[in-house]
Amino acid sequence: MSLQAPSYIQHSELIAWVAQVAALTKPAAIHWVDGSAEENEQLLAQMVKAGTLTRLNPAKRANSYAAFSDPSDVARVEDRTYVCSAHKADAGPNNNWMDPAEMRGTLNGLFDGCMAGRTMYVIPFSMGPLGSPIAHIGIEITDSPYVVASMRIMTRMGRAVYEVLGKDGAFVPCVHSVGAPLAAGAADKPWPCNPDTKYIVHFPESREIWSYGSGYGGNALLGKKCFALRIASTMGRDQGWLAEHMLILGVESPQGEKSYVAAAFPSACGKTNFAMLIPPKSYNGWKVSTVGDDIAWIKPGADGKLYAINPENGYFGVAPGTSVKSNPNAMAMLHENVIFTNVALTDDGDVWWEGMSKEAPAHLTDWQGQEWTPEIGKQTGRKAAHPNARFTVAATQCPSLDAAWNDPAGVPISAFIFGGRRSSTVPLVFQAAGWAEGVYMAATMGSETTAAAFGAQGVTRRDPFAMLPFCGYHMGDYFQHWLDIGQRVSQAPGIFCVNWFRTDKDGKFLWPGFGDNMRVLEWIVGRVQGRAAAVSGPLGWVPEHGDLNWEGLDEVTAERFAALMVLDHATWQHELAAHDEWFAKLADRLPPALAAQRTRLSAALIA
Ligand code: GTP
Ligand code: SPV
Ligand code: MN
Repeated sequence: MSLQAPSYIQHSELIAWVAQVAALTKPAAIHWVDGSAEENEQLLAQMVKAGTLTRLNPAKRANSYAAFSDPSDVARVEDRTYVCSAHKADAGPNNNWMDPAEMRGTLNGLFDGCMAGRTMYVIPFSMGPLGSPIAHIGIEITDSPYVVASMRIMTRMGRAVYEVLGKDGAFVPCVHSVGAPLAAGAADKPWPCNPDTKYIVHFPESREIWSYGSGYGGNALLGKKCFALRIASTMGRDQGWLAEHMLILGVESPQGEKSYVAAAFPSACGKTNFAMLIPPKSYNGWKVSTVGDDIAWIKPGADGKLYAINPENGYFGVAPGTSVKSNPNAMAMLHENVIFTNVALTDDGDVWWEGMSKEAPAHLTDWQGQEWTPEIGKQTGRKAAHPNARFTVAATQCPSLDAAWNDPAGVPISAFIFGGRRSSTVPLVFQAAGWAEGVYMAATMGSETTAAAFGAQGVTRRDPFAMLPFCGYHMGDYFQHWLDIGQRVSQAPGIFCVNWFRTDKDGKFLWPGFGDNMRVLEWIVGRVQGRAAAVSGPLGWVPEHGDLNWEGLDEVTAERFAALMVLDHATWQHELAAHDEWFAKLADRLPPALAAQRTRLSAALIA
């Protein structure tokens, strides 16, 4: 095995680190990824040959592929995810922690020889526009060609990164292995992973990531949740900025007034859909444009506003539920150059998932390679696509991409929106009375769990700021950081809460959602621009029925609107008890300002 780095890499520390990881993992070869089209073609062809990728019918989806993961490897694994800070208290009760020295011992054992028989790829990538003052660079070492091809879509990846890095630039070292060493001459599995042993590990002080045993999305594309959220949140804490699980969108009125908002919804709760919203027909002249659909890095600007960039270069979006009706922009960007994971295949070599069309095709091959018909689905309850099936596609293919999406300076944020999946309790929309009130609401946000992570689904848990699985340090310190940022900027955005998921007594959604979320968005930007009316309530400012635009939507009557907005006394007593239970866990570092907000809120709800 040759360790020789290409001559365009001048960074001796980086080369020494790669040599060190190679000595530990013992790959059969090292491939320094350059990001070129030829290299990508060659990797895709190799994966088709190995059975990792199925090439889709080019007449249906040009240059597109489907991958099918091991059933043990279909989502993030929160109970296998660790933040190994030097002191346990700094990781907080929101993270699994192990002593860093002990964890390094465990990892050294697992990574020793773990790349046997495989090629080790060295991937240079930038989170954010190359060279932007808000961007940061990472190097991911992996033994998965699927990760290489996905990182090429999801990040600014390739040789140009080394030019920015120079001889001694800073980078976040990320080491990933599928954790399935190949014995000499043994055939590889289409989706190699370690079904029993997985570790997703972060060392916040040294800003390092080590991931073992999984090939799936958030566990393996280390630029995404591991770097851009867990490690970046600690960088933001230390350096005075924010790394958030937020979409960023632009909204422009017919008069040409443009605002940007950033919204945090938990995994599989509507960020991609909201970021690509197409306004209802009656919203003639309104435009919504997409800056990002999952992650925002936000820094204070010299003018007292907060500026946000999308550190990613593509979308790793939830497929089920995506249709021409719910998200036409997403459907339009999925015609070519897409990697699908765990979707179902049609007999003519295309893809399908639950919710893509009202009626399922008569015959499919499901994500596990088994025959599937609507009848089989009905009898067995088996889904054709995995509920967390995903698409991976470049941002530039999005028809609603914002003109400033690649602007190194970022876009100014006028409003933050927080929303969970709550079948009851939380109203359709309200505006927090001030910054601290808004931080309290985001800090106590609850949401029903989804298929984006392993574990029971539909259980309400606290998911503050939609960051519970992604905050790289103690959540109490994170709340304080948010309170501090609000003090630091002179033009702090307004804070709003929404809930698209309230249901009636039969479990049906009360709110039509998707494009009709524009009606709520219009009210939100109207509020920050000082136009929209509101009345004061226990949670903050709320619209009355007449304050929203209902043109073209008869189904939300005044009565239905009241059901969407009502605050039930008994339900809120339970909700406040859940806040208390959550805050008790953070008691050692809970900001006193939030305890004060809790007292204020219960008084307001009783009054
Ligand atoms: P991650 O990529 O996991 O971070 O998720 P995300 O927040 O981007 O979620 P996404 O937009 O992909 O939404 C996932 C699920 O939410 C799909 O099943 C959608 O159909 C559903 N969804 C999105 N928006 C709405 C809405 O306005 N109303 C309802 N009822 N469902 C929605
Ligand atoms: C999420 O789970 O919030 C995602 C998908 O966006 S993953 O990249 O797997 O984290
Ligand atoms: Mn996400």
